[in-house]
Amino acid sequence: MTHTPTLPPCDFQPAPYCGPSPAEILALRKQHLSPAIFHYYKSPIMIVQGHQQYLFDETGRRYLDGIGGIVTVSVGHCHPEVTKAAQEQQQTIVHTTTLYLNPQVALFAQELAAKMPGDLKVCYFVNSGSEANDLAIMMSRAATGNYDVLALRNGYHGGSPGAMALTSHHTWKFNVPHTFGVQHAVLPDLYRGPFGSQDAQAGSKYAQEIRNLIQFGTSGQVAAFIAETIQGVGGTVPLPSGYLREAYTHVRAAGGLCIADEVQTGFGRTGTHYWGFETQGVIPDIVTMAKGIGNGCPLAAVVTTPAIAKALANRIHFNTFGGNPVSCAQGRAVLRVIDQERLQENSHARGEQLKAGLLGLSRKHQLIGDVRGLGLMLGVELVTDRATKEPASAQCAAVFEKCKELGLLIGKGGLMGNTLRIKPPMCITAADADFLVDVVDCALASVGEP
Ligand SMILES: Cc1ncc(COP(=O)(O)O)c(C=O)c1O
Repeated sequence: MTHTPTLPPCDFQPAPYCGPSPAEILALRKQHLSPAIFHYYKSPIMIVQGHQQYLFDETGRRYLDGIGGIVTVSVGHCHPEVTKAAQEQQQTIVHTTTLYLNPQVALFAQELAAKMPGDLKVCYFVNSGSEANDLAIMMSRAATGNYDVLALRNGYHGGSPGAMALTSHHTWKFNVPHTFGVQHAVLPDLYRGPFGSQDAQAGSKYAQEIRNLIQFGTSGQVAAFIAETIQGVGGTVPLPSGYLREAYTHVRAAGGLCIADEVQTGFGRTGTHYWGFETQGVIPDIVTMAKGIGNGCPLAAVVTTPAIAKALANRIHFNTFGGNPVSCAQGRAVLRVIDQERLQENSHARGEQLKAGLLGLSRKHQLIGDVRGLGLMLGVELVTDRATKEPASAQCAAVFEKCKELGLLIGKGGLMGNTLRIKPPMCITAADADFLVDVVDCALASVGEP
């Protein structure tokens, strides 16, 4: 390594930290938190403050946040307008339930619906992406009277029993009954799949697999098909162009509804569009969203058409915290900030800059097998051999650790853990993006060639 990358200057000073040490916190976690929760990095870091695209540890050391709390901090840590909206609501009323009228939930629904195309005008608020997907599947079954559900291999839709059924990674599935009625279609992966990026018909060929699965694996009538527009946890795998348009046609011909899981791809992150599904030129029947919708608060939503929404009124359905006034006030502020600060446009510009920089690195480092994604949802897949595409999982872990050492926090994903995931808050600057590429370059150099 020839130099040490330098973080762009920032005049924000974090408050001095005087709480328990990282060692004490680690001990408390071991003693009192489920062993199922895990931490990043061999030596875990403790984050005690956030400001825009930066995070601070207990010593005041600053890091560039390249993953945004798993694609959740959309407009920046502790954004003043979002914080103000939440604080004002905290001082007014925190919880009512939807049993009483309150302005926040109704106004948020109106403002969110205004961001949706077509007839997607009815919202149901919940608290997490898993809950949103559970509800979307139940609504589809209730609305169509059908049972079978199609999802994609390598997808991630959550960890509740219902969402775990949709998720398609053995590592995230418990050995318990959960897959009733859910089947997974072949992943339309242009890098690893049978039809690659050179094949102009790849999208159509992969979509044919949806029809095959309906014909060979179901009664011929399905309730729903759910897909992320860019698979997030699966290692930033984008869908081939034209794929969703044809897949949706097959699903609708079998009586099914089409669900877009926008938990990671929504709210301008893909840069060219506000919603990921728009990059595929489709309008889903149901859209699920979480993470970035609240910039870090527990908020999620299912948005659908009035006709489909009606199916849920056949029984009593209630969610205690769904539509909570504080979460909704925060969600409303997020929508405003995305527009006011032109964060979708920034995602596009910074995404193009990062992609060009990372593609430049792929000419220098043989470890890089693929650079992909849209806007600020990017993935860099590492392989030990570009011909065989052998996953470079150990090298990926080493690069990931080195990035932290150099002041950059990113994510890691894909079934084999060999893809670097870059999904920062949408407010990162050009100088931050240069720093990020510089760090990845130095980290790759430190690991060496395969
Ligand atoms: C695409 C997608 N859908 C759903 C979920 C589940 O969201 P939650 O963890 O809020 O339940 C996730 C979480 O990572 C996700 O990435």
